[in-house]
Amino acid sequence: MARLLIVHHTASPATQELLEAVLEGARNDDIEGVDVATRAALGATVPDVLAADAVVLGTPANIGYMSGALKHFFDTVYYPCLAETPGLRYGLYVHGNDDTSGAVRAVETVTTGLSWRRHHPPVSVAGAPGRDDREACWNLGALMALAALEAAPPADG
Ligand SMILES: Cc1cc2nc3c(=O)[nH]c(=O)nc-3n(C[C@H](O)[C@H](O)[C@H](O)COP(=O)(O)O)c2cc1C
Repeated sequence: MARLLIVHHTASPATQELLEAVLEGARNDDIEGVDVATRAALGATVPDVLAADAVVLGTPANIGYMSGALKHFFDTVYYPCLAETPGLRYGLYVHGNDDTSGAVRAVETVTTGLSWRRHHPPVSVAGAPGRDDREACWNLGALMALAALEAAPPADG
């Protein structure tokens, strides 16, 4: 079974809405054979990352950067995963009130260091999520689930 890991910092109704849309897309009935695991960024571990065939990262923009929680996640997994996960496909959603560019850049800097591969352009949402935003997150979840399926090693037998 392929595994999609969703590592998120969800601190408000708006960020919860985006997470739920990503999950709905990832778990939609048209995609079979993908186990979708969610982890709060403060609780995600090295084994979670090593077991993943693709990753979705979700964060609010905080003071022009990713959330402290997502930064903590990267601080935790960076060196233990550095040699093990080159090429790991990832997607990103960011929620902010006006300018999410610093948060996107910050995540891309770390993922570049890890040699992870961006599979989908980042989804940036400003303010109250609308229908298009929820749809963009749904699509992100679905495409990343398919990416996990593609990247998973073939089952034995
Ligand atoms: C300390 C702090 C810093 C923030 N910095 C940014 C920022 O740099 N860019 C931005 O677009 N939003 C920023 N925000 C807004 C948060 O991203 C936003 O509150 C979060 O995504 C949750 O959304 P909500 O407040 O609509 O529920 C900041 C919020 C706080 C509390």
